[in-house]
Amino acid sequence: MAVVRVRQHVNPLANKYQIPANPLEWEKVYPQPNQPLHLDIGCARGRFLLEMAQAEPNWNFLGLEIREPLVVDANRLRCELGLTNLHYLFCNVNNSLTPLLSTLTPGILQRVTIQFPDPWFKNRHAKRRVVQPELVAELAGYLAVGGVVFVQSDQKFIAVEMCDRFSEHPAFVKMGTEEWLAENPLPVPTEREIGTINKGEPVYRALFVKREIVNIDSPV
Ligand SMILES: C[S@@+](CC[C@H](N)C(=O)[O-])C[C@H]1O[C@@H](n2cnc3c(N)ncnc32)[C@H](O)[C@@H]1O
Repeated sequence: MAVVRVRQHVNPLANKYQIPANPLEWEKVYPQPNQPLHLDIGCARGRFLLEMAQAEPNWNFLGLEIREPLVVDANRLRCELGLTNLHYLFCNVNNSLTPLLSTLTPGILQRVTIQFPDPWFKNRHAKRRVVQPELVAELAGYLAVGGVVFVQSDQKFIAVEMCDRFSEHPAFVKMGTEEWLAENPLPVPTEREIGTINKGEPVYRALFVKREIVNIDSPV
C-alpha cells in the first residue's frame, strides 16, 4: 500500500488554496437536510465529528479541512461506518464559508467549533491564522440566533485572540463570567485536546452565543 505523507501545516495564503469551495447541494449531502448543522472548522482527521455524528444522530455534521488527504480518508471511514449525517469537505475556510453557507436554509447552522487551530507563532504569519475578523463576520451572518461558537486552544495567546475577535463583533456574546470555561461543554474531546490533557497541560476554552441584532434606526 502506498504511503501518502501529509504535511503538518499548510499555508492557507498560498496560491493553490485561493480557489473557494463550490456550493454544496445539501439535499444530496444529507438525507435529512433540515436537521441542525454543526460546522467543525479545521477538523483534521475528523475523529471528533465521527464520534459526535454517532452520539447525535438528529444533527448533521460538516468538517472543513485544508489538507485534502485527511478529508479523503475521513470520508472513506465515514462511508465504511455508514454515517449519513456526516460529511467532510476539503477547502480553505478563509475563502469558502460564503459559497458554502449562503445556500443553507436560514436557522440551520446552529453550532460551530474551532478547536486547536494552527497557532502560527510568528507575528508576520498572523494572517495565516484561521480566526480573522472576516470569518467572524461570515459566521455572524449565517449562524442561527441562539446558535453557539465553541473555541479552544492549548495556546493561551491564540485563545485570547479568538475571544477578542468574537467579542469585537456585536452579534456574539461570551457565555459565563469566568475568563475560561472549566470544562468542555461538548461530549467528545478532539484528538489535540486528548493529547494536551494527557500531557497535563491547560486548555483555554470559551463559548459564544449569537444574539439578535436589532437595528435601532429602523422604523418600528
Ligand atoms: C492543529 S489542527 C487541530 C485539529 C482538530 N481540530 C483537533 O482539535 O484535534 C488544525 C487543523 O486546521 C486545519 N486548517 C488550518 N487552516 C485552515 C484553513 N484555512 N481552512 C481549513 N482548515 C484549516 C489544519 O490543516 C489542521 O488540520
